[in-house]
Amino acid sequence: MSNGRLLHCLLVVSLLSGVAHAQLSKNFYEASCPSLETTVRAEMKHAVGKESRIGASLLRLFFHDCFVQGCDGSILLDDGGEKSADPNVNSLRGFDAIDTIKASVEAKCPGVVSCADILALTARDGTFLLGGPYWDVLLGRRDSMTANRSLANTDLPLASASLATLITKFDKQGLSPKDMTVLSGAHTIGMAQCPSFRDRIYNDSNIDASFANQLQKTCPRCGKGSSLASIDTKTPMAFDAAYFQDLIDRRGLFHSDQELFNGGSQDALVRHYSNNPAIFRYDFAKAMIKMGNIKPLTGTAGQIRKNCRIVNHA
Ligand code: HEM
Ligand SMILES: *[C@@H]1O[C@H](CO)[C@@H](O)[C@H](O)[C@H]1NC(C)=O
Ligand SMILES: *[C@@H]1O[C@H](CO)[C@@H](O)[C@H](O)[C@H]1NC(C)=O
Repeated sequence: MSNGRLLHCLLVVSLLSGVAHAQLSKNFYEASCPSLETTVRAEMKHAVGKESRIGASLLRLFFHDCFVQGCDGSILLDDGGEKSADPNVNSLRGFDAIDTIKASVEAKCPGVVSCADILALTARDGTFLLGGPYWDVLLGRRDSMTANRSLANTDLPLASASLATLITKFDKQGLSPKDMTVLSGAHTIGMAQCPSFRDRIYNDSNIDASFANQLQKTCPRCGKGSSLASIDTKTPMAFDAAYFQDLIDRRGLFHSDQELFNGGSQDALVRHYSNNPAIFRYDFAKAMIKMGNIKPLTGTAGQIRKNCRIVNHA
């Protein structure tokens, strides 16, 4: 994308987002921590340079934070059981990276920047560094004092989810079916473990046969099967629209992915994004801002954690 074009997209995205939510703001830390965004970006460049997948893992971590009692950093707490909820346990990654970045931000601006906001910035930077769109992250979230395992089990979608279930779970968060489909485009990057796609490759009929056979070689029907597969089969660590072409080719890795292109309400949108990568990028950025606005703690609610894993002592 040319600089002019990038700038154009930035302006439009920030205009739309400014109206969407009054509580959070782009310049929240302008006076209190002016180096915040450059600090996070430098740390993220380093982390993604070492292991590109970390960009994907942090994008997912932000999604799992926002869907459980809002974007409040609850997913980062060691206590409260959110980390061990079914959709999270043995699969969420990036907690150490958050610790490192938080420490770096604390060194510059002690006690000022929330873990929830740091997570929001890393999700944007991870996306951008892997070739995805850029957007202005709205800031000013505060950190929760609690996490909630049962809510995580209720509100986060599983790979086995039907289209109807996906739409319901996103609707509960104020996100439309279109938001759901475009945000699922995050599966253009990152990896998954055998148990996440086992039922799909052995039991689903709406799957390309050679794709299923190839995955069955490393993901056994029974047993542990810790083998990893790229979610996007064509360009695994590049943030592009290839994920949507995979769906059209019946090569969605999760049952839930293929539900977006299985003769239902989202088929047309999947084709649209596959044919128009620039529109996908633009809509993804807009939907990320919308997801980032889910029930933030603001004002005097919550606290600014010193350590993202634990609530501050009184
Ligand atoms: C629509 C419902 C969704 C379902 C059912 C779902 C499910 C999953 C599952 C099962 C995995 C693999 C976990 C593992 O095997 O360890 C995964 C990975 C991932 N998900 Fe989703 N997801 C959904 C939506 C999203 C959204 C909205 C985002 C972000 C905006 C996202 C971002 C990611 C990323 C980036 C990965 C790869 C993470 C890594 O490599 O560490 N997903 N997802
Ligand atoms: C956790 O969420 C459930 C709803 O699933 C709610 O009934 C419960 O009060 C919440 N617990 C805490 C500690 O917030
Ligand atoms: C596939 O479906 C069968 C029958 O419903 C079930 O017993 C099995 O656990 C499913 N998964 C796999 C990986 O075979």
